[in-house]
Amino acid sequence: MDEGREQYRRQLEWFGRVEIEQVHNLVSWQEHADWLEPERAAGRIDRLGVTHYAPSAFKELGRALRSGRFDTLQVPLNPRERDCEREILPLAAELGIAVIVMRPLGEGELVGQAVPEDTLARLGVDSWPQALLKWALSDERVDLVIPATRNPDHARANAAAGSPPWFDAEQRRLVERLSA
Ligand SMILES: NC(=O)c1ccc[n+]([C@@H]2O[C@H](COP(=O)([O-])OP(=O)(O)OC[C@H]3O[C@@H](n4cnc5c(N)ncnc54)[C@H](OP(=O)(O)O)[C@@H]3O)[C@@H](O)[C@H]2O)c1
Repeated sequence: MDEGREQYRRQLEWFGRVEIEQVHNLVSWQEHADWLEPERAAGRIDRLGVTHYAPSAFKELGRALRSGRFDTLQVPLNPRERDCEREILPLAAELGIAVIVMRPLGEGELVGQAVPEDTLARLGVDSWPQALLKWALSDERVDLVIPATRNPDHARANAAAGSPPWFDAEQRRLVERLSA
């Protein structure tokens, strides 16, 4: 608890306010929500979020979402990691909770695929990593993807995947087949 409060103190000192404060991996989520909710009510935090990386925690994640205390959710989603599609994404959509996707590139495991130019053209993208990011963003329930990179050129190329047009069902299936 103390560490979370200290992190928040430093965030406010640096940024002035916080757009999304996430309770990671459901750690003491009720207790953290108790002190974070008044901060949101006071306007120092825009949105409170909750995250988990493991499908084994999705039941508890569902309970946290149903508590009505959170505005955003962060879970893994990519063509090889789709557990959240079963219950968590429908629940988030039902409750109007915004969805942030972690591991959109499968922690880098999916990016090495050699994909022919004409396939990329069919998808309307310049690169395979862009196709993977657009695949996740084309799910109507998804609001944001957060690909990690240490490479500024990758960051620039990845950002280009953040604009429409989004993939239709057939384009999404094509990305899934190529990722299998
Ligand atoms: N519990 C949690 O809340 C939690 C848990 C895990 C992760 N996360 C967050 O989720 C985000 C995703 O991180 P992740 O590492 O798990 O997975 P990821 O974004 O699926 O993959 C990152 C990997 O993809 C590579 N990459 C990125 N863009 C590329 C490009 N254009 N071309 C080629 N390679 C590219 C990166 O290497 P380069 O550096 O070479 O680009 C890196 O190795 C992070 O921001 C992380 O903090 C949160």
